[in-house]
Amino acid sequence: MCGIVGYLGNKNAVPVLMQGLKQLEYRGYDSSGIGIIHRKKLKIVKEKGKLDQLERKLSNNLSAQAGIAHTRWATHGGVTTENAHPHVGPGGKVIIVHNGIIDNYSTLKENLKKEGRVFLSDTDSEVVAHLVEKYIDLGPEQAVSKALSFLNGTYGLLFLFRDHPQLIIAARNGSPLVIGIGKDEMFVASDAMAFAGYTQNAIFVDDGEMVVLSQNEYRIINRQNNVIDKNIEELTIESGRHSKENYAHYLLKEIHEQPESVFRAMGRGGRLLPDFGTSLLGGLNMEKRDFFDIRKIHILAMGTALYAGELGKFILESLTRIPVEVSDASELCGTNPIVEKNTLFIALSQSGETRDTIGAIQEIQQKGGRVLGIVNSVGSTVARMTEGGVYIHAGSEISVASTKAFSNQVTILSLLALMIGRTRDISLSRGKELVEELKNLPGKIQSILDREDEIKIMAKRLKGHSSVLYLGRGINHAIAKESALKLKEISYIHAEAYSAGSLKHGPLALICEEMPSVFICTSGDYQEKTVSNIQEVKARGGKVLVISNYADDNLKALADEIFIVPQSDELLSPLLTVVPCQLLAYYTALALGRDIDQPRNLAKSVTVE
Ligand code: M6R
Repeated sequence: MCGIVGYLGNKNAVPVLMQGLKQLEYRGYDSSGIGIIHRKKLKIVKEKGKLDQLERKLSNNLSAQAGIAHTRWATHGGVTTENAHPHVGPGGKVIIVHNGIIDNYSTLKENLKKEGRVFLSDTDSEVVAHLVEKYIDLGPEQAVSKALSFLNGTYGLLFLFRDHPQLIIAARNGSPLVIGIGKDEMFVASDAMAFAGYTQNAIFVDDGEMVVLSQNEYRIINRQNNVIDKNIEELTIESGRHSKENYAHYLLKEIHEQPESVFRAMGRGGRLLPDFGTSLLGGLNMEKRDFFDIRKIHILAMGTALYAGELGKFILESLTRIPVEVSDASELCGTNPIVEKNTLFIALSQSGETRDTIGAIQEIQQKGGRVLGIVNSVGSTVARMTEGGVYIHAGSEISVASTKAFSNQVTILSLLALMIGRTRDISLSRGKELVEELKNLPGKIQSILDREDEIKIMAKRLKGHSSVLYLGRGINHAIAKESALKLKEISYIHAEAYSAGSLKHGPLALICEEMPSVFICTSGDYQEKTVSNIQEVKARGGKVLVISNYADDNLKALADEIFIVPQSDELLSPLLTVVPCQLLAYYTALALGRDIDQPRNLAKSVTVE
């Protein structure tokens, strides 16, 4: 979603800001803009569309030592150049970029209009520029403070002032903000990735804080108006200059990275203790004896992370015998969640910046609940606000559609289940068996990727259809949901997941030649019943693609196409069955010529509710 970046220093701000925007591009956006002080005037260049369109509009001789920039993902007001940021105050004295939503903007706007102020955009953000300028005679800091006092909603805001060219002010409430401290230069951005390659030294800004930046100094002021000290953290930001290497898309590269990323999730083996048949996750801030007190686990997440959580429920319940609830974080806040002493809450998030997940954590924490974070982005909001947690170490995930983060989330949940399970329910020999299975996963995933061409054939079956059903029972139902999400997200084909058992309760009416079904059918408890469901679909003229881990003649004869993944422990089989489903979505989207890495309307990190 929206990305913001500001720069103050000796370099020309324009290319530095453009580079910053490019590093944030993966988050998803529909327009962009840059604002600088050029020849003592605030100058704004903005454009809808991709960054190269903005770049074409920027003249080569534009230079400045300070500037702010933005990639916009439209919420209030259509995708137009006028609605792109920065926005300027009516007297041209201040410009702002904003990430978040100002909930009370319409009331503020009406009041400002009554004072004769004229607005140039349909955005919620423009009111902030007007408000600051209204109070600018108080001085920049006071004017920003005063303006912020009127705002309800979420913001990461940057301000640049015509009459104070050596100053940027930033403020945060609910949207991420991080300061990058370089040598004789300062950065401030919604994501440290924006200054990757320039500095590793960063300070994370928290809600209610305002930052006053000059080239060599920063001051952080809290809600009580006190200047506060914060730790400078040394980040390991991946070089920022992402590369698709030899892959056509980041998505394909990320799917192919899974053997290595799953291995990393297991700490390259270091998070596994083979002799004790268990795992060891540091960072939980819990003693093993604390596990005895857990009466319930409650997982919170959105999208793909939510489906990883649903799989986690199966794995955790099976290995720990602790009941697990999984909640769509966006729904949780409105339902006045029950928070009990012995419930362990787990927030799952790749980005660690998902607004809905953060909102749910806040609600639980204010009721006294203990929340652990399972997160990919180091130093992200979820990682910092939770009482303990585990990094999944998937590496940068650039494509909007999540793949390797999903696999790593499920891997970490499996390790957690093993660790808690071994203290409570499961035997040493079962523990050892699972450790062995986990160790073998990367190799098995690789063997699936080596047979990618088989999936290309399957994809040909889907590309001509406007709707697809994904079906599975038990653990495979969660994979069906994740796979349907992947297909609709990147191919724009409507895909719906059901438990195979619920077919006869309605969805069977949809079955005909035009409605293909993808069944996830693995050996084990659900096998026979799922095969019966496949038969029911075939009997009604439906085409069936099967992802399985066993191949008997009956199943082969029933399936129009079948892909067999290697055998594994049933609990870990989703880490294998998901891979052909990811490839199926990819190759279908490819055949349809979709914008695979940045699907329409979507953002990588959903930072607004
Ligand atoms: O960063 P998060 O894991 O919190 O993101 C949650 C969802 O927004 C995300 O998984 C989304 O559904 C993906 N685009 C799915 O591929």
